[in-house]
Amino acid sequence: MRLRGKTILLSGASSGIGRAAAELFAREGAAVALLARREALLEEVVRGIEAAGGRALALPGDITDEAFVAQAAARAAEWGGGLDAVLANAALGLVGEVEHFAYADWCRMLEVNLGGTFLLVRAAIPHLRARGGGHVLAVGSELSRGAMPGLAGYVASKWGLLGFMRALSMELHRHNIRVCSVLPGGTLTDFGPDDAADKRARRERGERFLEPASVAEALLFALQQPPEARVTELDIMPM
Ligand SMILES: NC(=O)c1ccc[n+]([C@@H]2O[C@H](COP(=O)([O-])OP(=O)(O)OC[C@H]3O[C@@H](n4cnc5c(N)ncnc54)[C@H](OP(=O)(O)O)[C@@H]3O)[C@@H](O)[C@H]2O)c1
Repeated sequence: MRLRGKTILLSGASSGIGRAAAELFAREGAAVALLARREALLEEVVRGIEAAGGRALALPGDITDEAFVAQAAARAAEWGGGLDAVLANAALGLVGEVEHFAYADWCRMLEVNLGGTFLLVRAAIPHLRARGGGHVLAVGSELSRGAMPGLAGYVASKWGLLGFMRALSMELHRHNIRVCSVLPGGTLTDFGPDDAADKRARRERGERFLEPASVAEALLFALQQPPEARVTELDIMPM
């Protein structure tokens, strides 16, 4: 029960890494507030956590809706008696070479991946400060420092996320708020054009992938730092 008494707000908690993190944090005693669009999936996650004796709250909505995100953060803090951590995990992964990539897709991906992160974090900061400190976590990618053809917009969003988090860390340090980006390699989720089943089939053929639960463990690690330390970036790659 390493997170007993903590309240954590997570985006993208309806599936994949966000769902695995929500389930792990709840098993460790945290009350988890779950933000994503697919309400039925969020309710399923909540029911699973409650059945295991944990506490969870569904906050269905779109991370790019400014008013909704502000209300969701306030609701999470009210429900949990405050907020100790926020995880910005929701993202969109659209594929296509730049020459043929629609500008609307470019804008939407940056809106979700960067704009949504900004809105969530900005809404959470006053609640973390009211607690006297806490954590801001984000899920970046190995592509936060790398590149890949056909993913220029996604790569740009994940490099941008890393820069945002580095500057944020400098801003929030004085408020006793730790800021950490967790940067996973390929993970067995439905993210991007290939679903988890496709990725599993590729793994059978020798490609390496992480389990979402392993990325969740890295996020849990980021929430448990020694008092004099701040871990600002964590890379997690498949063996
Ligand atoms: N899978 C990989 O190989 C991999 C590798 C490196 C990094 N990542 C990163 O890991 C994070 C989680 O992705 P995942 O792999 O777990 O894939 P996933 O299962 O597709 O999760 C993405 C989550 O984001 C949410 N989301 C997307 N757009 C949203 C919006 N407009 N408003 C609210 N929520 C939204 C989705 O929920 P709804 O659809 O219900 O809204 C879903 O819960 C992402 O930041 C991704 O960039 C993934």
